[in-house]
Amino acid sequence: MKRPIIAGNWKMNNNKEETKALIKEIAPLVKDASCEVVVCVPFTSIETARKAARGTNIQLGAQNVHWANNGAFTGEISASMLTELKVKYVIVGHSERRQYFGETDETVNKRAKAALKAGMKVIICVGETLEEREAGKTAEVVMRQTEIALKDITKQELKRVVIAYEPVWAIGTGRTATPEDADDTIKFIRKVVRKYYGRSSGQSIRIQYGGSMKPSNVKELMAMPQIDGGLIGGASLKAEDFAKIVNYDK
Ligand code: 13P
Repeated sequence: MKRPIIAGNWKMNNNKEETKALIKEIAPLVKDASCEVVVCVPFTSIETARKAARGTNIQLGAQNVHWANNGAFTGEISASMLTELKVKYVIVGHSERRQYFGETDETVNKRAKAALKAGMKVIICVGETLEEREAGKTAEVVMRQTEIALKDITKQELKRVVIAYEPVWAIGTGRTATPEDADDTIKFIRKVVRKYYGRSSGQSIRIQYGGSMKPSNVKELMAMPQIDGGLIGGASLKAEDFAKIVNYDK
């Protein structure tokens, strides 16, 4: 059985003090969750988050990772720097990184491979822009992003990969994909995975939906057969909302 995974992507929010307070507030509210619970915090809050989450079911994630182990890469953080801090998950290829920081399909692949080699689990983000969607290119775009992101990742490593389908037009806009639309695109992503890794991998890989997921729509999204979880931005910054999402099945 696949275990659903709800992950908060805090983006560039919460200093150390705020991190500690938010995790302490979330922990008791999610302690009986049946899904995996992850919070992806800013690099500077990782150590604080780890301490605050100790002894809870909250797993620690980061929001980016570089592919080299060390070297002249100003402003970047390596996989071993994250594993040293006991980071279990890392997001790669978020649309904000693709849009504002020159992330490409190729660099997403390099980052994902480095994180997997270091033993972490990765959440690889894919998703089309509004323009691409309106041009009827959703399938083409998510296929290209998925294929390149997974290049040279072994079937064994794939077990530690989660894909987040995040239509860019639904992020932070309050606009959610309809459950049916999200489900269809995720089904298509499974087909792409299946082509390279076989039927059982296509079925077993966990694929989240992301983009304005909130307490009021989580139930209908999670009821869809292809959706295995959520990657939550805005609503993950409020303990009560995040907990309601995590406890969608209660
Ligand atoms: P929102 O939930 O704020 O739309 O953000 C989604 C997201 O980008 C998660 O990575």
